[in-house]
Amino acid sequence: MQKDGNQISPRIILGVTGGIAAYKSPDLVRRLIERGAQVQVVMTQSAKTFLSPSTFQAVSGRRVRDDLWDEAAEASMGHIELARWADLVLIAPATAHTIGSLAAGLAGDLLTTLALATDAPILLAPAMNQAMWSKKAVQENRTLLESRGIRFLGPAEGEQACGDQGPGRMLEPIDIVNAVFEAPVQLPSEVLKGLRVIITAGPTREPIDPVRYITNRSSGKMGFALAAAAQQAGADVILISGPVSIKTPAGVNRFEVETAKEMYESVHQRVDGSDLFIACAAVSDYRPEIESSEKLKRSAKNLNLELVRSPDTLASVAELQNGPFTVGFAAETQNVTENARMKLIKKNLDMIAANRVGPECGFDQETNSLRVFWKNGDIELENAPKSVLAKRLINLIAKRYVASQPKQSPSQVI
Ligand code: PMT
Repeated sequence: MQKDGNQISPRIILGVTGGIAAYKSPDLVRRLIERGAQVQVVMTQSAKTFLSPSTFQAVSGRRVRDDLWDEAAEASMGHIELARWADLVLIAPATAHTIGSLAAGLAGDLLTTLALATDAPILLAPAMNQAMWSKKAVQENRTLLESRGIRFLGPAEGEQACGDQGPGRMLEPIDIVNAVFEAPVQLPSEVLKGLRVIITAGPTREPIDPVRYITNRSSGKMGFALAAAAQQAGADVILISGPVSIKTPAGVNRFEVETAKEMYESVHQRVDGSDLFIACAAVSDYRPEIESSEKLKRSAKNLNLELVRSPDTLASVAELQNGPFTVGFAAETQNVTENARMKLIKKNLDMIAANRVGPECGFDQETNSLRVFWKNGDIELENAPKSVLAKRLINLIAKRYVASQPKQSPSQVI
């Protein structure tokens, strides 16, 4: 993502596959560019039976890529480099064949190879005959891709090129462009450039005696995914983590703590001069008042532990004068919205991500879903792998952060 002042220009790979709706794709390119995007068109071989690459070259101002084995093109930007360049991969139209290839993880041409190689979010605007769209195979592929975090835009219903009526028409370019710019799916590769971000992750351990402690089920996966996404978005990232067994994301500066008190101290040693603070750690609210220096014996029938409150790192950062933009998490099993809103206000946060604890979301799961609240708004980030969700959340935080800054000149954020 390139940033010109506050103007952000997302880098989009537009995949065009072989369907009659490809005639709408040059208009889509034009509209994306009008909104400030840089667009690299990638065509499949069958797309070229409907439109010539020179049409796309004329509207995008870039040479169209259409061949995995094009030595000249690969020499200027290899396909892996191109996959990394993209903030977003948008395939419009997406045929049943391409959807099937993506679901199967095939890499038979440049476009599907890029889709496999990229970390960027992928959006598909399907276009096909209504009977094809309704087939179980296509619907199962769609469900599978959605479960992996790929998002479908449409299709629309109506009269089709073949004369049929029903679902299968590609959305109009204007609707696709609006979805691209409104949905928090883009990974803005430089939107946090120059910002110092502190992220907490994992559980804490509150010692009872030399061999026992109080802890929780946090694996650190969500916090580490956020650290990786923030680093990829250009931030200088400090990750303060409780005990977990996850590799530190490349380029991230990690500090390890064990207890809630150490978490508090570690954050406060580093918070000065930071721009963003994201508290994803599951910090123990209570700790044993006394830590026994010897292992407690199994003698009495009952053992009562006196627990005292541990310091609240998040609330203390939110209280700082000229402190960072502060984002909390709220792990909840019930009344998720009410509890999250209450924490947002009570702790005086800029944003809070409500994390329902349940199947496929929350502690020690591979996937997660969040509802994110701020003073005048909220948004649902649908269930997706934690790495994908983290990119969406970082993008959303970046938008809210930019919006919170005093305006120097008319600004526009996506
Ligand atoms: O690590 P994973 O297995 O991937 O799971 C991710 C997660 C479920 C742990 C994560 O997404 C999440 O929801 N983290 C917050 C968990 C939590 O402890 O929520 P809470 O509602 O108890 O705390 C509210 C906020 O205050 C949190 O931002 C927490 O970091 C912060 N806090 C809480 C207590 C305390 N003493 N100090 C704090 O800073």
